[in-house]
Amino acid sequence: MTKNFYITTPIYYPSGKPHMGHAYSSIVADIFARFKRLQGENVLFLTGTDEHGQKIQKEAKKNNMDPKNFCDEISETFRSLTKKLNLSNNDFIRTTEKRHYKSVIEIWNRLVKSGDIYLDKYSGWYSVSDEAFYDEDEIENKGDTKISKLSGSTVEWVEEESYFFKLSTWSDKLLNVYKKDQNFILPSSRRNEVIKFVEKGLKDLSISRTSFTWGIPVPGNEKHVIYVWLDALTNYISALNFPDEKDKKFINFWPADIHIIGKDILRFHAVFWPAFLLAAKLPLPKRIFSHGWILSDDKKMSKSLGNILDPLEIIDKYGIDQLRYYLVKEVSLGNDGSISMINLKNCINNDLANNYGNLCQRVFSFIKKNCNNKIPINQKLKIEDQQFLKSLKEKLPNLIDLMNNQNLNEYIKMVVGFSFEANKYFNDSEPWSVKKNDPIRMNEIIFTISDQIKNISILLNPIIPDATKKVLNTMNISLDNIKLDMVNNLEIFNQNKELKDLNILFTKIEDDN
Ligand code: ME8
Ligand code: MG
Repeated sequence: MTKNFYITTPIYYPSGKPHMGHAYSSIVADIFARFKRLQGENVLFLTGTDEHGQKIQKEAKKNNMDPKNFCDEISETFRSLTKKLNLSNNDFIRTTEKRHYKSVIEIWNRLVKSGDIYLDKYSGWYSVSDEAFYDEDEIENKGDTKISKLSGSTVEWVEEESYFFKLSTWSDKLLNVYKKDQNFILPSSRRNEVIKFVEKGLKDLSISRTSFTWGIPVPGNEKHVIYVWLDALTNYISALNFPDEKDKKFINFWPADIHIIGKDILRFHAVFWPAFLLAAKLPLPKRIFSHGWILSDDKKMSKSLGNILDPLEIIDKYGIDQLRYYLVKEVSLGNDGSISMINLKNCINNDLANNYGNLCQRVFSFIKKNCNNKIPINQKLKIEDQQFLKSLKEKLPNLIDLMNNQNLNEYIKMVVGFSFEANKYFNDSEPWSVKKNDPIRMNEIIFTISDQIKNISILLNPIIPDATKKVLNTMNISLDNIKLDMVNNLEIFNQNKELKDLNILFTKIEDDN
């Protein structure tokens, strides 16, 4: 039976245009989604926009727009970003959709029913920008204002009637969850942070607001809107047609295999979300993976520093595979990482143009010139050829392991290493010098190197889907049903077709570009 795999990105606030951090989370999730499909699994990959709350209402007002129209407009830019990033998402959820509304109402009602909700008054600090409540010990003075120590965003004093969720009663059960599965929160440094936070003891959580209206009204008390985080987190099951628990999607895909998020929203995903689910008697997601922060030239990207790198500009100038590859090669997943235009260019030149791109281009032009533009198939391989191919095939289980543990950087390093070795194999075996006297040897070499190009392309496909698709297509391999185990399959070339033309894969970037 085919395995199901459910992976999500955060749903982004449509409060401004998408930036590099959003692109990063989405690309990382997309790579894992594509890899799982290569493994033959039935993947559901969800992304979307988080549209309610005070932050959005404020931003809409600033723009003199009704919040719904405002969201329609900006959500569309996030949807079009999914195309620009070449995401393979199966769904795009907006929290202003009907399917989501009814799912949130059901969650609310379940929490009422389980006795986890009571009405009281909230007084404390709130950050509109983070949509988060902060304790006294989590804020500090900055000039005349108070800011969150965690995010640096301004907090304001709030006093209003509010419904509360009895989060305090869930501490022990949450700690048990973290203890039972060491991989529930990854990476482990983040897991320890969460455990420390919960061990301190949890306070009840305010889960409704009355000082604005842009949200889902609390059933039976419509002057309250449901707290945007309770609303937003529920998206992960709304997209599965919850509350219809008999729905195929819900049965197949809940619990989610992995939520990919940034470290800024770990508390919401690793503490609040599991507590809500436990109270609603629903299974917990299997894993929460929190990646680090993307910095620009070692600093947080900000308008005032003028160091914002716009993903769309980079894609227009250099290409989407180039951006995808660079981000995940350069930034160690789980840690903060700095990106810069100089490193981007070096990375495109060294890894893509000079290594993988060059390998494909030179082998294909050799085939065109010397082999009637056909891969010489069915060759009996020499020991050295077999050994060359074996080093990759043998590593397949390790590669799968790396990806299943979100060890993306090691995976890339290994695959790029194979590409480097392949260039070396081609150089060292010198097919051009045996062409005249030993054409059979030439054919063996070309068959071998073609097979390795196929293998490397399959392994790189989740990361640079466009370029690898072109390469495989050149070799008459359809991408519709490529699978990881085709790495073991020499038969794939049992077709006597000419290579298709391949345009330049990666243009080298000169200094002044
Ligand atoms: O928090 N580096 O939405 P958001 C890396 N709506 N990743 C970054 C980043 C950076 N500099 N900046 C942002 C929200 N991100 C909520 C989520 S989920 C139920 C609701 C990424 O638009 C990172 O994944 O503020 C972070 O968690 C997310 O964008 C926050 O996006
Ligand atoms: Mg944010």
